[in-house]
Amino acid sequence: MPDDSASVDLLDYGPPTETFLEDVVIGLSRGAKRLPSKYFYDHRGSKLFEQICQLDEYPVTRSELAIMRRFADEMAAQIGPGVMLVEYGSGSSVKTRLLLDHLEDPIAYVPVDISRRHLQLTAERLSAAYPDVQVLPVCADFTSKFDLPVADPAETHKAVYFPGSTIGNFQAEAAVEFLRGVARLCGRGGGLLIGIDLKKDVAEMEAAYNDRQGVTAEFNRNLLHRINRELDGDFQPEQFRHEAVYNDDFDRIEMHLVSEQDQEVSVGEHTFEFSEGESICTEYSHKYSIQEFAALAASTGLTLRRHWCDADRSFAVLHLAVIDEQTTV
Ligand code: TRP
Repeated sequence: MPDDSASVDLLDYGPPTETFLEDVVIGLSRGAKRLPSKYFYDHRGSKLFEQICQLDEYPVTRSELAIMRRFADEMAAQIGPGVMLVEYGSGSSVKTRLLLDHLEDPIAYVPVDISRRHLQLTAERLSAAYPDVQVLPVCADFTSKFDLPVADPAETHKAVYFPGSTIGNFQAEAAVEFLRGVARLCGRGGGLLIGIDLKKDVAEMEAAYNDRQGVTAEFNRNLLHRINRELDGDFQPEQFRHEAVYNDDFDRIEMHLVSEQDQEVSVGEHTFEFSEGESICTEYSHKYSIQEFAALAASTGLTLRRHWCDADRSFAVLHLAVIDEQTTV
């Protein structure tokens, strides 16, 4: 075992192969084909995503990190002592370390991620770096139901950390449902610390999803490689072009894989027809203003307490508190 890790047990609610197959078959059988973006994140996908976060064209991660570096002490003070910090889509938990460095007596850290191997490695490193914090990883699709681990000694309250503007990858109804779930999970005294990518110049937003080296394209096509590997598919990934454009009507980047020719693809027992130019929608990335997001959250029982931005107001981290348990049932 490497020096910088400690052994930790992982609670496993990760989606089984049958669910993946079912989601793929449903998505590719629709008139407008779709694939759920959560399947981007197998081990290779998680690594490609980390490369995206370092690209010149993708300033989102850098902006958020800068905000965290500057204001993590204020955020930690908002969250308060004795917390169980639950993070959805924890990846390599880089930003979380900044929070953990400033929190007063954090009781437990619960990283939740769909990428099992990546999660295990991250949890081991965190556990070694923060020996006084109970690191209790959960492998799960955080949009589905799963149980949280029990901390011993117990926390005084819970806080959810949801960085990376991942909320932008949800459509409005799903975002509302997710926020309701967070309010219910945290209860009175709890809160949500969330990262939001703000609306900005369209060319800048489009560039962030169309890097010159083609890492984002490869990340997008990894979904097809993964289907080939895990579900016995015969996609030719290079026969699908990466496309990411901003849709003004919905304030979102829409990401697609566009078929370069008429083709037939099989996945296990199933076959799917693609005509030239037909696309599979793989991801939305909604952009918000702080006011819009605060209004959306208010309808779910969460009220904006404080927010922090970077100098050019391209990204914001918001702290929201649970208003009242009655409004969240
Ligand atoms: N939450 C990130 C975002 O919407 C996820 C992301 C960044 C992403 N780049 C991507 C998802 C490329 C798919 C493809 O910005």
